[in-house]
Amino acid sequence: MSPLSSPPTAEAVARSWRAFPAGSNGEYGLPERLSVVLQRGEGCLVHDSEGREFLDMTMGWGSVLLGHAHPGITAAVSTQAAAGTNFAHVSEPSLRLAESILEISPACDQLRMCASGTEATLHCLRLARAFRGRAGILKFEGSYHGSHEIGTTSLFGRRFLPFPQPEPLGGSMSDRERADILVAPFNDAETAIALIARHAAELAAVICEPLHRCLPPEPGFLAALRQACSEHGVLLIFDEVVTGFRLARGGAQEKYGVVPDLVAYGKALGGGLPLGVYGGRREIMERVEEQRLTEDDYVWTASTTGGNPVSAAAGLAVLEAVSEEGFYQRLNATGEMVREGMRRVLRDAGREACVIGDGPLAQVVFRPGPIRSSRDIWQGDPAAGRRLMLALFERQVFLNPLGTKLYLSAAHDEPACREFLDRFASAVAAAPKVRPRITTT
Ligand SMILES: Cc1ncc(COP(=O)(O)O)c(C=O)c1O
Repeated sequence: MSPLSSPPTAEAVARSWRAFPAGSNGEYGLPERLSVVLQRGEGCLVHDSEGREFLDMTMGWGSVLLGHAHPGITAAVSTQAAAGTNFAHVSEPSLRLAESILEISPACDQLRMCASGTEATLHCLRLARAFRGRAGILKFEGSYHGSHEIGTTSLFGRRFLPFPQPEPLGGSMSDRERADILVAPFNDAETAIALIARHAAELAAVICEPLHRCLPPEPGFLAALRQACSEHGVLLIFDEVVTGFRLARGGAQEKYGVVPDLVAYGKALGGGLPLGVYGGRREIMERVEEQRLTEDDYVWTASTTGGNPVSAAAGLAVLEAVSEEGFYQRLNATGEMVREGMRRVLRDAGREACVIGDGPLAQVVFRPGPIRSSRDIWQGDPAAGRRLMLALFERQVFLNPLGTKLYLSAAHDEPACREFLDRFASAVAAAPKVRPRITTT
């Protein structure tokens, strides 16, 4: 394995910095010296344009749950591509996929398809607003629901504003939009319930990631949200873009036993192809029916590539694979083994850190526990987390140094996990020790 610390800037990387802002399409935030251009992937490995091999611990930001170039997905996609790539109309694969999801997802009487998780959560929020005739949305600090204004509000803790004040990310949000958003701390049922009760007349919905980034809900927290929303006529939206078909076949709804009014899916469902789904109770979903076009509570959701038959074919292949006996037992055991291994490495190195996560997800937080909310995470040392991620990247572990969230997949077998833990130990040893910067508010 050749270290990446000072490679000559490859031609492909130089081209990518010319073509894309910061050399990429997303939020990796890699320094130019570590930039790579990927060429192919197989299982849990990816290869760059210089032929270097990386152990992938982000797996297309969790969209490739079965592993890169999975034979079932490859075959389904090739067959469907040969039969037509888009009709902008219901097709046999999209119909079969919809029927399967309706059978799996407790929240969904009906659903529609779109092309990303961002669109799926956005449509849930718009539906909730139209259904309730109110504009207010309560979200949880540190949650991400896609690259729209509500999705990115209070995503990073820069100012530690008093709750429920929202903190816009960047400069694209209007004051008007800002006034409609309330922010609560995750896992603090008392505060959330009080805010729901106090603002019930303005609130259309509460949106949450049931697994808050990598932070599991405390027992009773989601049930308390469910109850408060029902009592006050506020819709509960689960953003299952990460948890759907990952924590269990029935996602967070199955794992944590709470059913929302509306749910958004994406990522794993599409097997790496663009696919989002939003669904919920029939009386809410009726708002998108085109014969209501002239009614005040109608919601326009047309999408040229929503329900794309190639994405749907990939989705069917994903559902077939995850329905195999023992799939989630194996996936969860992999996640548990890696989290435990990381804890052992950090303990042996004398680092004061927690490893959080559930299912096949893991994240290191440099501070002592317990960790209940995003603010707890930010009051640790996020910079140390990023340094560690960069040290891992230098050891040819492919990941997102900004997000610091690791995604395992069904392709991460035991040797791959052991290899990761070896590189993790080497990165921990190399990353400078930093005293946790814990402040109180
Ligand atoms: C919880 C959650 N919701 C929504 C999204 C947005 O999905 P997409 O990137 O497909 O638009 C993401 C993406 O990371 C996510 O993590």
